Amino acid sequence: MTADTWEALERECGACRRCSLCQTRHNVVFGVGSPRAEVLFIGEGPGEQEDLQGEPFVGRAGKLLDTMLEIIHLDRSRVYIANMVKCRPPGNRDPLNVEQDACAQWLERQIALLAPKLIVCVGRISAMRFIRPDFKITKEHGQWFEKDGRRVMAIYHPAALLRDPGKRPETFEDLKRLEAAIRETCDHTL
Ligand code: URA
Repeated sequence: MTADTWEALERECGACRRCSLCQTRHNVVFGVGSPRAEVLFIGEGPGEQEDLQGEPFVGRAGKLLDTMLEIIHLDRSRVYIANMVKCRPPGNRDPLNVEQDACAQWLERQIALLAPKLIVCVGRISAMRFIRPDFKITKEHGQWFEKDGRRVMAIYHPAALLRDPGKRPETFEDLKRLEAAIRETCDHTL
């Protein structure tokens, strides 16, 4: 097999019909950011606005994610942001296991191309897929785990922070820990 390229991967992903979400999507939401990014954020799946605009985290929760990045002097051009599932689950329900399984290869190939130094799971569903099926976001957010030789942390999903602003101080601490790890691990050559 020839080596993947971002262009080929995005084209192939854009034509995906591996699960029934392809029937209701407006756009495949492939991902956004720098192909040289050292930090990868992994969300759950597109919502309504993301489906309409073809970009991850552009709705209300996405605006808050941008603010969270700003707190640690980042923006979407210096990281990479992708979702576990590339097409919107109708009514914003959680993606089903069959949908997650069908979609997994796209993110795996994105990770292989990007080779990020740090991965941040955005929210419980992403953490349960990438860290451990029994991951407890309330207890384990902000802690570093090792997965396939990479450091992985989970933070609260910005939608959860909109619902419960009481979780924001803890998230601020998690972001500061992320910033410290970036300073330690990343080259800052972006
Ligand atoms: N929530 C996610 O997890 N991903 C998005 O792209 C938007 C909202």
